[in-house]
Amino acid sequence: MSAALELKDVTKIFGSVKAVNKLNLTIEQGECFSFLGPSGCGKTTTLRMIAGFENLDEGELYSGGKLFSSSYKHYYLPPEKRDFGMVFQAFAVWPHMTVYDNVAFPLKIKKLPKNEIAERTEMALKATSLTKEAEMFPQKLSGGQQQRIALARAVAINPKVMLLDEPLSNLDPHLREEMRFEIKALQDKFGFTVIYVTHDQAEAMALSDRMLVMKEGVVQQVGGPLDIYNDPANKFVFSFIGLSDFIPVKVKNGQIFVDGGEECGPVNGDIPKNLDPSIEYDIACRPSEIDFAPDGVRAQVVRRTYLGDIVDYLLKIGNVELRVQKPRRHSTAQLGETCHLRFNRLLWYDRKEETASKT
Ligand SMILES: Nc1ncnc2c1ncn2[C@@H]1O[C@H](COP(=O)(O)OP(=O)(O)O)[C@@H](O)[C@H]1O
Ligand SMILES: [Mg+2]
Repeated sequence: MSAALELKDVTKIFGSVKAVNKLNLTIEQGECFSFLGPSGCGKTTTLRMIAGFENLDEGELYSGGKLFSSSYKHYYLPPEKRDFGMVFQAFAVWPHMTVYDNVAFPLKIKKLPKNEIAERTEMALKATSLTKEAEMFPQKLSGGQQQRIALARAVAINPKVMLLDEPLSNLDPHLREEMRFEIKALQDKFGFTVIYVTHDQAEAMALSDRMLVMKEGVVQQVGGPLDIYNDPANKFVFSFIGLSDFIPVKVKNGQIFVDGGEECGPVNGDIPKNLDPSIEYDIACRPSEIDFAPDGVRAQVVRRTYLGDIVDYLLKIGNVELRVQKPRRHSTAQLGETCHLRFNRLLWYDRKEETASKT
């Protein structure tokens, strides 16, 4: 079976900005694949090239083994011939048309037979729970329902590939979570390939079979959500996925000391054999992977916050701050108290290497 999408050296340049830089990627049929990265990293541009709204400055794009775009051959299949379903962040519904007509309209443009238009429209409305609202106008409906119209419209064209660009960003958190499941259910039912663009790592983790993490137009890592979480390719990826602590350290006599908190004693953990003595390092750890223990490096509790079932601690080792999160049942340290910490799974990064700034 040929891949749903194949991108070879795909590049897009806007003036002096390389929005997408030599992207190579294969997405299999039926996969749910996410593009994840901070705002401005090139996700939408990549999606628009896949959809056919943007030409490629370099590279080629195939779908189902068929050439869709090639900069070398100056070949571009127009968007309407690609038959991809598309849903964007803004609720792109036509206000002067009923829900039914919003969904049926693209099928009319395609000049499908009347009975097929009716069949497909009704099927898509049913799949998105909009049958009751069919004769209503979009502005009478909630944001979630409006976004369902957009989904129904995309489903009705019976696409092999569904392109979704931050489709849930304008919805409130509860609805967002619910609609994630709805998108997955639609995919299970119809079997299309999903390409899902988001800057929300939790959303990408929850939805994806595989995902890629992008920074400034360059792919940092491709893999399953857990692989990327557990085995990040670099400091940027580590910091973009999940919560992270970075702690400046020094190695002395085969022991790890916090740089600025030497008096608190050594940090437990393995020291990599290949450390470069000319580089200053940070150790990195997830706040959930640091335990309160009877021994280990000494720290002081400076803030303690209840986040539902999780207790979030801000601690200080000397003058270095770090966060620790523990389930409420396992949390013991009190505000102002001195405690001891044990670290699980330390990663080591060059202190100068960039982290992702999350907003
Ligand atoms: N039409 C355009 N003209 C000029 N620059 C653009 C255009 N579209 C996107 N860019 C630039 O390309 C980069 C990637 O943008 P975009 O793909 O929209 O990022 P994302 O979707 O990840 O937030 C950004 O630096 C953006 O400013
Ligand atoms: Mg975007």
